[in-house]
Amino acid sequence: MKGGTSVALRWLTAGESHGPCLTGILDGMPAGLGLSADDLARDLWRRQQGYGRGGRMKIESDRAEILAGVWRGKTTGGPIALRVENRDWPNWKDKEYELPVMTVPRPGHADLAGLLKYGLEDIRPVLERASARETTMRVAIGAIAKKLLAEFGIVIRSQVLQIGTARATPGDLSDPRVVERVEASSVRVADPESEERLRAAIDCAKDRHDTLGGVFEVVAFGVMPGLGSHVQWDRKLDGRLAQAVMSIQAIKAVAIGDGFQAGERFGTEAHDGMEMREGKVTRLTNRAGGLEGGITNGQPVVVRAVKKPISTTATPQPTVDLATGENVPSQYVRSDVCAVPAAAVIGEAMVAYVLADALLEKFGGDNIVETHRNVDAFVRSLP
Ligand SMILES: Cc1cc2nc3c(=O)[nH]c(=O)nc-3n(C[C@H](O)[C@H](O)[C@H](O)COP(=O)(O)O)c2cc1C
Repeated sequence: MKGGTSVALRWLTAGESHGPCLTGILDGMPAGLGLSADDLARDLWRRQQGYGRGGRMKIESDRAEILAGVWRGKTTGGPIALRVENRDWPNWKDKEYELPVMTVPRPGHADLAGLLKYGLEDIRPVLERASARETTMRVAIGAIAKKLLAEFGIVIRSQVLQIGTARATPGDLSDPRVVERVEASSVRVADPESEERLRAAIDCAKDRHDTLGGVFEVVAFGVMPGLGSHVQWDRKLDGRLAQAVMSIQAIKAVAIGDGFQAGERFGTEAHDGMEMREGKVTRLTNRAGGLEGGITNGQPVVVRAVKKPISTTATPQPTVDLATGENVPSQYVRSDVCAVPAAAVIGEAMVAYVLADALLEKFGGDNIVETHRNVDAFVRSLP
């Protein structure tokens, strides 16, 4: 950790929504981790699912290529370079100079703020980069982080808790049968009644020519104690998780454990008591979501996030034409009605990245064997 930026892992993405491709570089993975493009395929597919998605998901089926950092199926310790082709590119490649200059900013998008900041006349370059298409690369990078975490028995799950005001009955994500049902669900919930309720909410938004957001939860199981630190503000893992998840397009609130609900409780009802069970310190609850003092405490790490409704609505919203100064209605272009299930998959990727970074920060290792040795020695030393 140096100057607030972790030096264990780092990554960058580049690419526009309708450009030829998205690219990403992940630096700092130890050598010797088995990795192929197939490891990334499932999460890329999961990001594209969900009831309420728009037409683009039908055009594209994302596939990542690994361009560097893997030799004979194993990571080399060098930067891993990734590329995901935009299948929509052939429809756009000649349009750069043909499309009219866009001067009407859409409420809820980066359009106006980005245009003002970068001194642009055309909104399009802002929206092309601000688009959640960028999260495709986040998910590919997150899948590599998950692969590393899986080596140490850490698995990441997610579910949708709410769409608009419709609430799902939360499933127990430690139960593989529940996880199977969530994965099979079009809205990432565990039971048919919840599925019906949430789908009805999306249908209602669609009928009203409107959109909806909601709440999802990401849970990491098998996390050892000791990741993150209480000693400095920028090493606190709760803060690092919140920043990472909040950086996902359209996320407006992040909570760890009971989050906002903790503010409503008495102290005796808000914390996680302990007792000795068969010689082991055991928690009675997990209200803290696996983090105390910014350090993992051995309980599952629970992160919840609120996604605002999709900004582009079929019903026009008031805006202005910056070229004429006139008040005009916003223009509608093909868009999602609800993308909360996809956002949950992106949330998994961000949580996986932060945990992988914190794991490597604590245990190091230029080769996965070395990381294993360090993790195993620490876990064995725990009381
Ligand atoms: C998975 C996902 C899909 C999205 N799809 C759309 C979409 O189809 N149309 C749209 O207007 N906004 C969509 N958004 C939201 C915009 O990207 C987001 O509201 C915009 O970039 C503004 O970001 P901010 O609210 O974080 O500032 C999507 C967001 C996510 C996470």
